[in-house]
Amino acid sequence: MSELNIEIQRRRTFAIISHPDAGKTTLTEKLLLFGGAIHVAGAVKSNKIRKTATSDWMEIEKQRGISVATSVMGFDYQDYKINILDTPGHQDFAEDTYRTLTAVDSVIIVVDIAKGVEAQTRKLMEVCRMRKTPVMIFVNKMDRDGIDPFDLLDELEQELHIHVRPLSWPIEMGAKFKGVYNIYEKKLDLYTPSKQTITESIQFKDVNNPELEKHIGDKEAKQLRADLDLIEGVYSDVPSHPMLDTGYPEQSQRIADKSINDSLLEKYLAGDLAPVFFGSALNNFGVKELLDCFVRIAPFPRPVQTEEKLVNPEEDPFSGFVFKIHANMDPNHRSCIAFLKICSGKFERNTNYKHVRFDKWMKFTSATAFMAQKKETVDEAYAGDIIGLPDTGNFKIGDTVTAGENLHFKGLPNFSPEMFKYIENADPLKSKQLNKGIDQLTDEGVAQLFTNQYNGRKIIGTVGQLQFEVIQYRLLHEYGAQCKWESLHLYKACWIESDSPEALENFKKRKYQYMALDKEGRDVFLADSAYVLQMAQQDFKEIRFHFSSEF
Ligand code: G4P
Repeated sequence: MSELNIEIQRRRTFAIISHPDAGKTTLTEKLLLFGGAIHVAGAVKSNKIRKTATSDWMEIEKQRGISVATSVMGFDYQDYKINILDTPGHQDFAEDTYRTLTAVDSVIIVVDIAKGVEAQTRKLMEVCRMRKTPVMIFVNKMDRDGIDPFDLLDELEQELHIHVRPLSWPIEMGAKFKGVYNIYEKKLDLYTPSKQTITESIQFKDVNNPELEKHIGDKEAKQLRADLDLIEGVYSDVPSHPMLDTGYPEQSQRIADKSINDSLLEKYLAGDLAPVFFGSALNNFGVKELLDCFVRIAPFPRPVQTEEKLVNPEEDPFSGFVFKIHANMDPNHRSCIAFLKICSGKFERNTNYKHVRFDKWMKFTSATAFMAQKKETVDEAYAGDIIGLPDTGNFKIGDTVTAGENLHFKGLPNFSPEMFKYIENADPLKSKQLNKGIDQLTDEGVAQLFTNQYNGRKIIGTVGQLQFEVIQYRLLHEYGAQCKWESLHLYKACWIESDSPEALENFKKRKYQYMALDKEGRDVFLADSAYVLQMAQQDFKEIRFHFSSEF
């Protein structure tokens, strides 16, 4: 195997997603501890955007500033190079999370045992489903009382529209929590609350062994056997450990070789089935088991679709796309970091690469890599890695950088915003600055811009109130422009299409007051209520309505 192949196959680039408070930060921190990337618990807290009820976005931005360094957390674990992409905790920044999901090869979802599937989890899972991203689920807070685990599995399947397969199983929960039976490794992991760590991990190939009673008690052993029987019946083809415990290179081949009849692996990699683990991130229980299984079965960088062709990570020429731009909030020097996901080949410092949209060659002397929570100048990086390119306004989301090929990466969708406002100029002498500011901030992905075709007015669409404040502040401080908002009640922005040009024209004529163009010039229907949208769908059968720009 070539050096490039070895490097690529040992990479695991993923994001941890959850509804706020389910335990994403805590789990991330524990994973970093295992990777030796941090040495004390609590180190990741600075990265956290507090979910304050007040919309103190300056405070949030300060924390976001800190989080640049931790936007990507890279570390080595066993033979693997792990890249965890951080996603903002505050749901007003959900759009950022959607984009980050375009740059990962898999996802771990954290679910709180007491809360089950929550709104944000559902939404993020929709994005994963669209992209067929492989998903693993960590059910957290088993040290607390919660939903019956079987009911939770049902809920996961129904609410997230994905098959699930428990690879570990809890023995009681809350104050009575005894630990988990690790189905995947056929081990009993015992939890001792006082020590708050795994005290014993006992190989238990056969749970009918009477020794089980000694460890967890008669009632619990009986219950565990019954539960495992049920799991065996309902979720029948749970793989046994030897099948997967093949060590790194062979496993990579298994993943590459789809003909291998390992149904779990195949379904997981196809995004159809989520392996489920139970544990407690706070108590560092069940986390190592999750990580050990994850590195074995999670995919290494996958081929990425461009308009021109499918780009394989092992292809030699370097290519990558910008999925996120992080602005420096310091008004004295307007600089950004453009985050680039390498899709193929190897990036080398001081090499000329092509900015495809500008048809311009650029050399990056101070690109940064993110290792062990430190930002370092990168000399080389491989497909799967994320690098930060210092940017003074050259990049916008979705831009491609290559070794020369003209490629355009697909799949950076916009989703219908939740909130809309007309943006108006509050200082007539600064309209040029305002337009430039709006243009650049929307390129950066802070919000979406629509232009109403009826009255020519600009509409800003966001997922949360905070972005309006962010935009207003940044327009003033970075562009010297003042804006004011005028409320606009809309339900959804829908991208529309039709096989019949006449039907499309007719629709646009009939609904001309509600038609807008997005930044790319695509037709968007602004529905002011669910009812209006429903009626439009009913009356105009030849029109297809989409809630995301990717269809
Ligand atoms: P998030 O990033 O998904 O928003 O969640 P985060 O990790 O910040 O966790 C939310 C709260 O849940 C935190 O408590 C955290 O300590 C707690 N938590 C995480 N994992 C577990 C677990 O396994 N068991 C229990 N019992 N609690 C858990 P907090 O009081 O909001 O924050 P802090 O004061 O502890 O920082």
